[in-house]
Amino acid sequence: MVTTPLTPRVNTAKGLVDRTIFSNQEIYQQELEQVFGRCWMWLGHESQIPNNNDFTATYIGEDPILLTRDSKGKLHAFLNMCRHRGNRICRADEGNAPSFMCTYHGWTFATDGKLVGVPGYKEAYFEELDRSQWGLVETAHIGSYKGLVFGTWDKNAPTLEDYLGDSAWYLDLLVDRREGGSELIGGVHRWVMDFNWKFGSDNFGGDNYHVPISHGSIGLAGMNRNPRGAGMAEQGKDRFTVYAGNGHCITSGGSTAAVNPQMLNSAPQAGQEGNEYLRSYPDELKARLGEVRARQQALGIGTIFPNFTWHSSPTVRIWHPRGPFKTEIWSYCLVDKKAPAEIKNIMKRNYIMRFGPAGTMEQDDANNWSQSTTIGKSPRAQKVQLNMQMGIGHEFTNETHPGVLGHAVSETNWRGFYGWYAKMMDAPSWGSVKLDPKTTNKW
Ligand code: FES
Ligand SMILES: [Fe+2]
Repeated sequence: MVTTPLTPRVNTAKGLVDRTIFSNQEIYQQELEQVFGRCWMWLGHESQIPNNNDFTATYIGEDPILLTRDSKGKLHAFLNMCRHRGNRICRADEGNAPSFMCTYHGWTFATDGKLVGVPGYKEAYFEELDRSQWGLVETAHIGSYKGLVFGTWDKNAPTLEDYLGDSAWYLDLLVDRREGGSELIGGVHRWVMDFNWKFGSDNFGGDNYHVPISHGSIGLAGMNRNPRGAGMAEQGKDRFTVYAGNGHCITSGGSTAAVNPQMLNSAPQAGQEGNEYLRSYPDELKARLGEVRARQQALGIGTIFPNFTWHSSPTVRIWHPRGPFKTEIWSYCLVDKKAPAEIKNIMKRNYIMRFGPAGTMEQDDANNWSQSTTIGKSPRAQKVQLNMQMGIGHEFTNETHPGVLGHAVSETNWRGFYGWYAKMMDAPSWGSVKLDPKTTNKW
């Protein structure tokens, strides 16, 4: 594949990014290969497929994927495509089945991907078809991080643990708060919007600058107390942005939030009852995650590179790319498995009110991103660079939190995200990519 060099288009030292990365068709095609075809991609949550022979459908970039738990309990991710004439082998979104029969000519595949049925195997193929060679196309690796299932097409990818690096320390606040872990509840919201997938990933990866402006209206509507207080005035005290390496970006609640109830109330968290619940088991939290994380403001917000995002409302989502100008969002509610049923319901309502297709904050965000994306079609606009200079030279580290930290309102994470993006886009293989060093062991 002929590739467009991306490094010149992303200047992290000067904080400049070329607008074409949000609009160029060739760059988009390159993303599907170099980013989505190589990174560890979020495929779902184990709670979606708890039993043997359960399956659920998703995507890696534009590749349709069938995530299964086979008859022996092993996880697999396959291209949802028949090996005969390329038909989609499973059209259901989820379910339980020992095998999938293609609707075209009837080739049948088991949940472990093996080709187990071929009509006319004797009469038409004269028993000469080597069925062992025609199973479903499977990802090179699959792994689960505390219930979150990831897969990669690239056999040379680093381990999932190394790939997640320091981000896992923060992810634990979402998925490892209580014994029994987490689960997805209430199905999935899916909808298509007119914006480039990277706008979603980078925004949830640490754009606290937009909150008081873009979401000012929900403050006025009384849904977000002190809407303008959690911004620049709190610089570096209670909240900061964390570049966790390898493209992963997080907004951390900081360690003093517990002594600043105003901050807790002002943040778009899991609603008042949800927040009270999240702080109702400090001893278990401390025993599981240690003192610093037990003091942390609820669940945090972040993006695992390239397109898996979580938010403390509480929700997880994936920004599936659909060309440079469209994104298909799949959005879910994620809760502690052990939470009481009424708390799960309250959290689900809170998530739906803020995010998902009818969410108030969702609409604020999507409108801005579609405008930014659509303007990128203008030939004049394509010649203009965008600014990501905020906070250059003011990054820091501290003794309590892994990663490179920026002030709460900074573009440290943006520079990290796009620097890593350019690296992946230009690297001929994983062999030439140096992972950011993991520092989590210190904590
Ligand atoms: S395309 Fe699937 S059996 Fe022919
Ligand atoms: Fe937003």
